[in-house]
Amino acid sequence: QESKLWGGRFAEATDGLVELFNASVSFDQRLAEQDIRGSLAHVAMLGKQGILQADEVKRISDGLRGVLAEIRAGTFEWRLDREDVHMNVEAALRDRIGPVAGKLHTARSRNDQVAVDFRLFTKEAALDLADQTRDLRRVMLAEAEKHLQDEVIVPGYTHLQVAQPILLSHWFMAYVAMLERDEGRLRDAAARMDESPLGSSALAGTPWPIDRHATAAALGFARPTANSLDGVGSRDFALEFLSAGAILGAHLSRLSEELILYSTFEFGFLTLPDSHTTGSSIMPQKKNPDVAELARGKAGRLFGNLMGLLTVVKGTPLAYNKDLQEDKEGVFDSYDTLSIVLRLYAEMLPKTVWHADVTKAAAARGYSTATDLADFLARGGVPFREAHEVVGGLVGLASRSGRQLWELEDGELRAAHPLLSADVARSLTVEESVKSRQSFGGTAPGRVREAVNAAKAALS
Ligand code: ARG
Repeated sequence: QESKLWGGRFAEATDGLVELFNASVSFDQRLAEQDIRGSLAHVAMLGKQGILQADEVKRISDGLRGVLAEIRAGTFEWRLDREDVHMNVEAALRDRIGPVAGKLHTARSRNDQVAVDFRLFTKEAALDLADQTRDLRRVMLAEAEKHLQDEVIVPGYTHLQVAQPILLSHWFMAYVAMLERDEGRLRDAAARMDESPLGSSALAGTPWPIDRHATAAALGFARPTANSLDGVGSRDFALEFLSAGAILGAHLSRLSEELILYSTFEFGFLTLPDSHTTGSSIMPQKKNPDVAELARGKAGRLFGNLMGLLTVVKGTPLAYNKDLQEDKEGVFDSYDTLSIVLRLYAEMLPKTVWHADVTKAAAARGYSTATDLADFLARGGVPFREAHEVVGGLVGLASRSGRQLWELEDGELRAAHPLLSADVARSLTVEESVKSRQSFGGTAPGRVREAVNAAKAALS
């Protein structure tokens, strides 16, 4: 058991399969930078508190920096028999500087060590994703502004049935609003996890005269965690990260679905760039929206990572249990997945071409201005419910005879209601419909311009 840092009480060597099952080094080596940062802060504090001699602190710190340099250079040998990142680093330190390395773990446990490493990682990941979310928001805002110049009109849908015409810019601004909240959720999570568990030790704290405020500050945390059991036993910081990531993933998945749908031959609203689509190995004509489809499908793993960790945590008694080693891979995966999808969309959206003639024609179909006709009657004093009934009858008449509302005869319209006429029906253009929706947050060009300006101000 010489390679084990905990081998003292064991007489028999660890079973090979157990070693494989138990080890986390294959994935937690990703925490090496955070692990060594944590150790450097810890050992410096031990020196300041008079727990270690200055020369011991120096030898350990120099040794840790040497190990870090090896890891960065890619020459470090990660050993499965050393189980995890923490024991690989510590054992390598011992190989380098001898038995004094054993003093590093004074007043510390792997339980608070892994908790502090993982919080450092997750906090940085949350802030980085927040920045990337902001980048995509900036891109979508620029698209909104670009299409506002020509006031491009698209169909707005409910139930995926044409509902009312809207500005394409208004559609973009809906995603800008969602992404703003996504960024906020990530930053909120980062702020709440900004506490250092280091010094919680195994679970109960430590008899050593440590300074947890000093290590928290040295590691850039706002403060130490207030309860040692909570410090080593809680993973809701990771759950919040995964939850914010899952919601962001759901938004990106909805966006993907719309892009896929609108790029079909049947819709023909937009053309995705060649650089972000792929072909078929058998059908020469194909141009498939693989990026958007993968981005839609990635929601599965993002939700899975959240559900997975919720399930791991739910039945574990306080404080640390080895179950918690299952906390890391999902966080790494959600971080990597969202990073690439956010970047891809930030590149793809500005290269996507919208076909304004097609979208406008589609926006006019499906009796999308029927509400406008009902509003016209209501403005003339007809109760809205009655107006709704009258226009519903006209839509039925028109659809049975394969016509649009503006193709109805003057007599048919007057018979439905004396306030109606062919002139009125013809004035119901999609442009007028959009222009009329002046309510705050509505799709009228002036309102969308306001929204764009407010979003620009929020971003600067
Ligand atoms: N590799 C472990 C993990 O990721 C580190 C903590 C181990 N602590 C323990 N008491 N076995 O959770």
